[in-house]
Amino acid sequence: MSHAELRVQPGLTPAKASGLEGVVVADTQLSHVDGERGELIIAGSSAETLALAEGARFEQVAARLLALGTGEGVPDLEQRLASARSAAFTRIASLRGALALPDAMDALLAATAQGSAGADAVSVLGALPVYVAAAARTRAAQPLIEPNPGLGHAPDFLSMLGLPAHAARARALDAYWITVSDHGLNASTFTARVVASTGADVMPCVVAGLGALKGPLHGGAPGPVLDMLDATAHVEPRAWLEAEIAAGRRIMGMGHRIYRVRDPRAFVFERALARLEHEDARGSTVALRLAHARHVEQVAEALLSERHPERPLRANVEFYTALLLEALGIPRDTFSAVFAIGRAAGWLAHVAEQRRTGKLIRPASRYVGSAPQ
Ligand code: COA
Repeated sequence: MSHAELRVQPGLTPAKASGLEGVVVADTQLSHVDGERGELIIAGSSAETLALAEGARFEQVAARLLALGTGEGVPDLEQRLASARSAAFTRIASLRGALALPDAMDALLAATAQGSAGADAVSVLGALPVYVAAAARTRAAQPLIEPNPGLGHAPDFLSMLGLPAHAARARALDAYWITVSDHGLNASTFTARVVASTGADVMPCVVAGLGALKGPLHGGAPGPVLDMLDATAHVEPRAWLEAEIAAGRRIMGMGHRIYRVRDPRAFVFERALARLEHEDARGSTVALRLAHARHVEQVAEALLSERHPERPLRANVEFYTALLLEALGIPRDTFSAVFAIGRAAGWLAHVAEQRRTGKLIRPASRYVGSAPQ
């Protein structure tokens, strides 16, 4: 067979370097991203409505997602997650090695693999904040704090981190987790679905999702966004941003595969931050940081539009995630892991939906290597 024959395999679409852009690989009832209009629908409602509604709790949205994914009602999720957090804490002593890993995502990945093998979806979802908080406290050489089953997922997580968990802060974290709970077929959700499509059980699907989320092009940007805000706090942002681009680096928190307008999740976080500004004792610090972030965003947007007039590169979810999680006092090396706690609701719903409605995901590749002699 000649090399030319090997390269032209009938029936295969050339992959190009597309990153699967625009390729549909699943039908889903869970969420929809409209990148042109800047709209995000989660479980049939706009993300903004869900996240900013009075009394909105992460557990309610997780229950809706899981119900859609499994095709069955998910009663008492709040209580079941509280029990799962308590159960996870009883296993913590056996996870010391995993929790002591220096990187927050590595620690979460290892603790989930070791501590949640064979567990069902609710047990894994409930265990994640316990592992994240225990790893953060371990890194800070602080004693671990037990979960309190009388609290909701958000205030209990803040409390396990040793942070104030009053209503305004819990509400902001609930708004954050609801907003990031699902987002179409992003890289980590796709990864989780691929693993689910092989018939694997829940834990490996979540561990695979965590692996995909770790990268800076996906969930790893918010820490570097804060580094950028710190670095530009006392200098003109434009010169700093130009130097970053000249050094071959990307501006973190800017650009998106799907959105051609500003990421609607950035608006939700701005609103949640504005609420915190009024209700929290640290409100004035939050306000100053927010004003600086808006300025950096405008300068970055202008600079990127000069360089890429063909491709709008606007603020994405990670830009204001950084500010919101910072305002809650969450350590910046923990941001991606906190993102994972919320996104896991979507992963688990997609895993259930994939099992119920999908088949093995096994795309093709196009061989461009050399032919055997
Ligand atoms: N800063 C500088 N340039 C950027 C950029 C950014 N944040 N985002 C995209 N670009 C440029 C690329 O360098 C590329 O330019 P080139 O064609 O001259 O090489 C062009 O825009 C297209 O980028 P590409 O990587 O093909 O687009 P994508 O759809 O795959 O990228 C992201 C989407 C999110 C990966 C990308 O915008 C990015 O890396 N953003 C920064 C990281 C980030 O915030 N991640 C969180 C995402 S929610």
